[in-house]
Amino acid sequence: MNIHTYEKFWLAASMVLIVGFILTITYGAVGLGIAMIDDSSPTVDPDNLDEHPGFADPGVEQVGENEYEVHVIAVQFAYFPNEIVVPADSTVTFHVTSEDVIHSFSVVGTNANTMVIPGEVASLTVETDDPGEYGILCNEYCGVGHHDMEARLVVVPQDEFELEVE
Ligand code: CUA
Repeated sequence: MNIHTYEKFWLAASMVLIVGFILTITYGAVGLGIAMIDDSSPTVDPDNLDEHPGFADPGVEQVGENEYEVHVIAVQFAYFPNEIVVPADSTVTFHVTSEDVIHSFSVVGTNANTMVIPGEVASLTVETDDPGEYGILCNEYCGVGHHDMEARLVVVPQDEFELEVE
């Protein structure tokens, strides 16, 4: 069977494109350390967060030398706490949940970005480096005040960090 040269060329080109699309999708799904929220995520009761050991008193908690955990609650249209202060050069794990609708927790200018689903806990771990200030934004449209939904992450020098003790 004789296949025309142009036809051969376009056959080859479309094969290359198909393989390329599969590779980019695979890279987008599993590359860059991206993890998806799945059925194995811990669940919480969004109506009784005040009975949860972490979310009853959201905020920063020290769990090891240079290791911190932060519980954050997203609601229409705010985050609690609204300002998160953590020390530089430490490992910080955020646990975020929502009390009402789907939000996101996105630290601007970093790859820390997760969807926040009521009933589920989204956890992500970051290494803080130099001191600085970051905005936290909601990337999921969650209602009329969506654009006002923000918080702040402040990374302070280690010797200036002090946990509030209540
Ligand atoms: Cu919360 Cu948009």
